[in-house]
Amino acid sequence: MREQKTSKQRGRRKAILVTVAVSLMVSMALPLTGYIAHETGLIHTAQAQESDEEAVNPRAEYWRAVRGGTEGYSAVSGQETGVLIQNGGQNWRAVRNGPVSFYGGSLIIAVLLVLAAKHIVRGRDKLESRTGRTITRWSAFERVMHWYVAISFIILAITGLSLIFGRAVLIPIMGKEGFAAWAALAKPVHDYLALPFAAGLTLLMLMWIGKNVPKSYDFQWLKSLGGAIGEGHPPAGFFNAGEKVFYWLIFVGGVAMTLSGVYLLFPNLETVRESMQFWHIVHSSSGLFLIAVALGHIYLGSIGTEGVLEGMVSGEIDEGFARQHHSLWYEEVKGGAAPAAEGEAAQGTSSAATT
Ligand code: HEM
Repeated sequence: MREQKTSKQRGRRKAILVTVAVSLMVSMALPLTGYIAHETGLIHTAQAQESDEEAVNPRAEYWRAVRGGTEGYSAVSGQETGVLIQNGGQNWRAVRNGPVSFYGGSLIIAVLLVLAAKHIVRGRDKLESRTGRTITRWSAFERVMHWYVAISFIILAITGLSLIFGRAVLIPIMGKEGFAAWAALAKPVHDYLALPFAAGLTLLMLMWIGKNVPKSYDFQWLKSLGGAIGEGHPPAGFFNAGEKVFYWLIFVGGVAMTLSGVYLLFPNLETVRESMQFWHIVHSSSGLFLIAVALGHIYLGSIGTEGVLEGMVSGEIDEGFARQHHSLWYEEVKGGAAPAAEGEAAQGTSSAATT
């Protein structure tokens, strides 16, 4: 009896084992069936039949609609969440990596080359005479604001440049991982510094707007390129015409940078992808342009002009510098004339401290 049971059990076990083994073999062999069918021409026949019956992919219409920007349904609520693919992205990338990068990058390199050539050929604009007596040109607040804006601009420029040119310039130098680590820092720094910079720039612009109103004598300054053409220095007020041009370029560029930057920082501000792409092009072009312009300012405000930087550092400039570069302002300060017409020199006249 016991022996019978055992042989039945053995038989059942054998059957189970065979079933499992066969199932395993079949499941392993299943993927091969496609290959076998293909080799034996079965699939070819099936495909040929299919393409005979229907010349186009049955999903072709669907994907055409998706690529065309047709809106579908998405559980995520918000602007354009039902649009899976937005083809404008291709055009945006082509413009960003094409003309914007090429012309913007070339402009920056051209400015650097022109400044280097000027410095090598003509050297710095020297002080004709240093009197040893100084005049107050900048208040402490103005200097703090200037350096705050200047330093934040430089950080934004470096991080912004590395975001736009990083792939082409930094990856070959740092490698992909090095660049990824750098970009992971550069991006948030750029984003978080943008609004504090915009606030500082707004204050700086408002503070100096009165002194940057164009005057008739500014044309004379521009015609002689600040004395580069012809003899002597042309007359200038608190700001010369070159500085006024710089001011207005920064003003207009700053408005474009700030507006476009706000759109990019807050994409949910009723923004669709197309307008993000537009604002990105505005932001990157105006950023590259401003960097080129700022390079000229940084050169002229430091090694390009003798005696100018000490003013922005200590607040005081040599009288010789004031007479040479800002003759009309110097006369007003020395003569005590009311500076109302130039809207200038509140500190120049009232606290003009000669030492
Ligand atoms: C290392 C960088 C910089 C240096 C060495 C520098 C230097 C100077 C100096 C010396 C002045 C006084 C000029 C004078 O006495 O008439 C000045 C003025 C000024 N700076 Fe800068 N600066 C720098 C960066 C910047 C940046 C990045 C900005 C703006 C984005 C800026 C905006 C201005 C403005 C608006 C003025 C008023 C005069 C003008 O319109 O040219 N500066 N800077």
